Amino acid sequence: MRANVIAVKIDCGAADERCSTTTGVYVAIRNRIANQLQNGARRLTAYLPSAQSIEKFQSELDDVRDKIGDTRMERLFANHQGPQLLKWLHYLPIYERHFSPYREVGSVSLLELGVYRGGSLKLWREYFGPASQVFGIDIDPACARFDGDYGSVRIGSQADPDFLQGVVQEMGGIDIVIDDGSHVMKHIKASFETLFPLLSDGGLYVVEDLHTAYWPSFGGGYRSRRSFIETAKGLVDDMHHWYHRRAASQPFAKDQVAAVHFYDSMIVFEKRKVERPTSVMVGG
Ligand SMILES: C[S@@+](CC[C@H](N)C(=O)[O-])C[C@H]1O[C@@H](n2cnc3c(N)ncnc32)[C@H](O)[C@@H]1O
Repeated sequence: MRANVIAVKIDCGAADERCSTTTGVYVAIRNRIANQLQNGARRLTAYLPSAQSIEKFQSELDDVRDKIGDTRMERLFANHQGPQLLKWLHYLPIYERHFSPYREVGSVSLLELGVYRGGSLKLWREYFGPASQVFGIDIDPACARFDGDYGSVRIGSQADPDFLQGVVQEMGGIDIVIDDGSHVMKHIKASFETLFPLLSDGGLYVVEDLHTAYWPSFGGGYRSRRSFIETAKGLVDDMHHWYHRRAASQPFAKDQVAAVHFYDSMIVFEKRKVERPTSVMVGG
């Protein structure tokens, strides 16, 4: 059974200076909630201390900081100030691994599904630099207030193909998609089916927070046909279509999915035109 978050209290009060960044506070809340979830809690509390318990809180923050490595992405995250940003720590080195080659290109077109408080758009802008194009979409009209801060924000649903196609047309193409939206299976699939074919050759499609693929409340379930994890496994089979006679699960998958990387709660698809593999013997 899923737990309910019943109390999240942020109360840095007099300890503000020692809490130092909003990010640190936020990461600590998330970790505390994640730990309670892992321990099977059904009622969650995340209480951040007032001045009298700041030492304990500070040691928690130090522990979180110890878990943040030294890649450019992690440094940007750890030093993030301003609009709140919500990311699992283990995503950061994965971003670095897959995004750094695009950073070297000098300009990318990135679309994120799910803007929330606008913090991630700042992270992408800082990571990819001013020459890159950063767009975010969100169903919540309140997110329109972030339009123009670190990127462009458009309001609409990730499950609406016409809306998504319009955004991509406005962008003039996309190199990277990050789905951090509703995390509902049918929304994830709808976005993927619309956006993956529109990705540039060499592009990346990232889907986050796929623990929801195991949760019926998000339309998922263990080995459920509707789970996006199962969709991705189907794409792995499609990638290997040279070696079996089953029909492809997605029409585009046969020759455009070059790699599917599975991580905890995250999948990264590499889009590249693929040709029948060739084996060649050399030497001897
Ligand atoms: C996890 S938050 C995004 C966090 C943000 N990317 C970050 O890293 O800080 C999810 C966002 O998805 C939005 N959302 C929920 N359902 C959506 C839908 N159907 N289409 C687009 N956005 C949706 C929510 O309004 C919320 O702002």
